[in-house]
Amino acid sequence: MVPAGNPLLDNLRIEPTPGATTLVIFGASGDLTRRKLLPALHTLSRGQRLPARFAVVGIGRTELSDDDFRQQFRESLREHAEVTGDDDVVRSLEGRLSYICGDTGDPALYERLAERLKEIGGADGVLYYLAIPPGVYSTVVERLGAAGLAGTPGRGWRRVIVEKPFGTDLASARALNELLHRHFEEDQIFRIDHYLGKETVQNLLVLRFANGMFEPIWNRRYIDHVQITAAETVGVEGRAAYYEGAGALRDMVQNHLMQLLALVAMEPPVEFSAGTVRDRKMDALKAVQPVSLEGENADAVRAQYRAGWVERREVPGYRSEPGVGVESTTETYVALRLRLDNWRWAGVPFYLRTGKRLPKRTTEIAIQFHRPPLEIFRRVSPTPLMSNLLVINVQPDEGISMRFDAKIPGTRMQVAPVMMNFRYGTTFPGEVPEAYETLLLDAMLGDATLFARHDFVETSWALVTPVHEAWEEHGDTSIPGYEAGEWGPQEADSLIARDGRRWRTL
Ligand SMILES: NC(=O)c1ccc[n+]([C@@H]2O[C@H](COP(=O)([O-])OP(=O)(O)OC[C@H]3O[C@@H](n4cnc5c(N)ncnc54)[C@H](OP(=O)(O)O)[C@@H]3O)[C@@H](O)[C@H]2O)c1
Repeated sequence: MVPAGNPLLDNLRIEPTPGATTLVIFGASGDLTRRKLLPALHTLSRGQRLPARFAVVGIGRTELSDDDFRQQFRESLREHAEVTGDDDVVRSLEGRLSYICGDTGDPALYERLAERLKEIGGADGVLYYLAIPPGVYSTVVERLGAAGLAGTPGRGWRRVIVEKPFGTDLASARALNELLHRHFEEDQIFRIDHYLGKETVQNLLVLRFANGMFEPIWNRRYIDHVQITAAETVGVEGRAAYYEGAGALRDMVQNHLMQLLALVAMEPPVEFSAGTVRDRKMDALKAVQPVSLEGENADAVRAQYRAGWVERREVPGYRSEPGVGVESTTETYVALRLRLDNWRWAGVPFYLRTGKRLPKRTTEIAIQFHRPPLEIFRRVSPTPLMSNLLVINVQPDEGISMRFDAKIPGTRMQVAPVMMNFRYGTTFPGEVPEAYETLLLDAMLGDATLFARHDFVETSWALVTPVHEAWEEHGDTSIPGYEAGEWGPQEADSLIARDGRRWRTL
């Protein structure tokens, strides 16, 4: 598939560059900085997307000199971006890095930061990135406020990117929002959900609202149900300390899957702006009804992986992972059936599932359409007829596919399902930006469209917190299991089978 009628694609790209910016990374010695942020900055720099006046101030407790931090930058490019050379881009960016060693609880750290910002050019834009454990967010926000580093000076700006997880339940998310709002205005706050930075997720908005053919059928009259799947093959990967306190519901559903649901379900915004797009997403989220947890007919299923085989490798069960208790009831799999009570979606279930140690790494949104009202080929075609399906592949093969029935060539009227595929990688040659590149740039530009707003985060927590609490109260150790390498537990199949449907085979 080629971009239709778009031969001057490169000339058509409008790529604004932010004004002078200093990026202050709290947690500069950590994993996220090494794996995602530094490589993203390098790619942005290579693409000339960073401002001419740009600096990075890294902050961590590990004692590093500026040179050590620059060395860490080079190592991170080697390990995570396959950049081994010593080109102008690496040298130029490296020269803009500096490091301050200190504890986030120490007021002196903020004095040193203020001095450093003044040296760099204090009146310009400053973007704080909280790449630190969530338990430290509040200290940094309070100290930035107390040191007068949160308020926007004359012609500059101050913004803060807050990493996930944003709270652990409704009460903690509310408290964090309140604290942030004491020191920053909402338009200064960028709550990251890296799913929103993914190309296909943004393309979902374009698919729906730049084309005239989908929107008229994007409703209960034509759509039977929606399935959103986020499947991982990995297990807890040494992150048990975090995951034990989170679980799949809070780690994946509250943020990523709810964002995807809102993008599928939202009404058309009147313009493409942060306020309007996020208003419409909020409307959709508000239509989601509380999850029923009533006995056999509960609309939520949790499970935990047991030992098994994934990608031809034998893997241990969750309870045997280092750092996980033998009686842990932390769920590594969740399936939900959600109901949206509004005119567009009444009667159309949204099925969500996510899990670790599933057979395949894939995230997709599948829109399943109704069957035609009269199936005139049913009797003549020996092959079963399928209903239309639109699949938005979020990762790893970003793209969109449509399934429809076609005649098999031959003298008989035989019908078979065929796919029409659009793949980003083949249609648009060149690199698809990493989510962190898009999001870092948007935050520097002050565009919050692809970030979570305070009300969205709280409403989403309001939906999942009762489910989590009910599971906690349940308190026994009999969480259902699924063998690693299988598509989740029997209970999840039953959840969707009750409606006469089944999960897609991926
Ligand atoms: N890693 C990922 O891929 C990923 C993905 C999504 C979200 N996140 C989120 O990103 C944040 C950081 O994660 P991470 O994986 O990078 O964690 P990490 O590897 O443990 O790094 C944490 C960083 O915070 C610093 N830090 C911790 N306490 C501090 C304090 N009191 N004062 C100053 N610095 C302090 C650490 O400094 P020292 O090591 O020098 O003490 C380190 O630089 C977390 O909120 C996490 O949930 C991470």
